[in-house]
This record gives sequence, structure tokens and C-alpha cells, in this order.
Amino acid sequence: MLPSFPVPSALVAPSILSADFSSFAEGAAEIAASGADWLHLDVMDGHFVPNLTFGPKLVRDLRQKCSLYFDVHLMIEKPARLAAEFASAGADSITFHYEAELHSQRLLGSIREMGKHAGISIVPSTPVSMLEFLLPYLDQVLVMTVNPGFGGQELIPECLDKVKCLAQIRREKGFSFLISVDGGINEKTALPARQAGADVLVSGSSFFSSKDKAAYIRSLRAGVL
Ligand code: DX5
Ligand code: ZN
Repeated sequence: MLPSFPVPSALVAPSILSADFSSFAEGAAEIAASGADWLHLDVMDGHFVPNLTFGPKLVRDLRQKCSLYFDVHLMIEKPARLAAEFASAGADSITFHYEAELHSQRLLGSIREMGKHAGISIVPSTPVSMLEFLLPYLDQVLVMTVNPGFGGQELIPECLDKVKCLAQIRREKGFSFLISVDGGINEKTALPARQAGADVLVSGSSFFSSKDKAAYIRSLRAGVL
């Protein structure tokens, strides 16, 4: 269930991209044990982004072991080809890239018809204005705050202006989509991201490198507005 807007305290979604790839189940268990809200799954095809990760089978296998909300982030070309497979594998939310799909409005609708939350993600160079005619059809906008493909990068501050712009449009038009930020989120950048209007904080390398993961989640969530 998506929380009702506005989200009183940030939702934290650790990314499995920074887990030990020799044991995804362990990584997922660490995320669940930390008290995180969502599990962010970064799917990469080596074409849309210069990195390769995993496919629907990982989602299916982790679904058997983890009851967290699965936030699937498709960094792949032609996402329409695989959306149904991720849906049947157990994704709760399927987010694809605006830059990878000409018929975004149609794909958003079909993801919702599959009973999943539908999201769009934009890379740093894509302006919010490109989403104008899609905002009524989506549940989440995932604002990339780094160039997609790898964890451990620095947040690009200008991307938070896009979060502010989306939050303003949401207020003015009465939309209720969630705004997520993804890339370079840590204890330092979480607060400005929240102040800009982000509801969901995706965090990979900082989460997995923190000693006390539960405390890390609490610190990200507590960021006061
Ligand atoms: C990057 C992915 C992000 C990444 C975040 O392409 O979409 O989800 O895993 O990792 P950090 O938090 O290390 O920037
Ligand atoms: Zn991601």
C-alpha cells in the first residue's frame, strides 16, 4: 500500500545494488532487519546504462524470502518487453525510464492494470517538463540524483531543483504521486532532499557501508523538515 500523501516521515529504500552479489538473500535480510520501508532493486541491461545486474528471477527468488515492498527500478531499454515478467515475479512497484520508452503513458497504464504501482524515472539531463502529460498516470517519480548505472557516486545538487519543481506541481494540481530520489543519498544529503520535497530516499552504498544499519535508517527518516 502506498502511504497517503504527504508522507510525514521519509520512506527509506535501501538498494540491493550495493549488497554482496554472492548472497542477495543476505543483503535483503539486512535491509529487512534494519527497519527499512522498501527494498530497491536496480535492474540494469548493459545497454541503457553501462552496467549489468539481474533480471526477474532474482525478484521471484527474493520474493519467497522477503516481505518488504519491492521497488523495482528498470534501467533497461524497451522496458515494456519485461514489465509483466517483473510484475508476476513479485514487484510491488515498477519504475521505468522516460528516456527508454516512447509510449510511456501506455506502459504506465499497463503496469497499473497488472495491479502494480507505476513509476517513471528521469536522468539528470531530463527536465521535469517532459513529464507534464504523464503525471496524472503515475504513482511515483524517481528523480535520479546521479547518472544511472553505478552506486557510490556523489549527489548532483541541481537535481534537487527538479524535486522542488515536482513538489510544487503536485501541490498546485492536487496530484498524489510520491517523489523519490536515487543516487548519493546519505546522512548529509537526505535532509536537503527532504526539504526539496522528496518522500522516498533510495540509498545503496551508504546503507551497506554503515555499521549500525537500523540507526542509519532512523537518521535518514528523522530528517526534520
Ligand atoms: C544507480 C541506482 C541507484 C544506486 C544508489 O543507477 O539506480 O539506486 O544503487 O546507490 P548509492 O546510494 O550508492 O548512490
Ligand atoms: Zn535505482
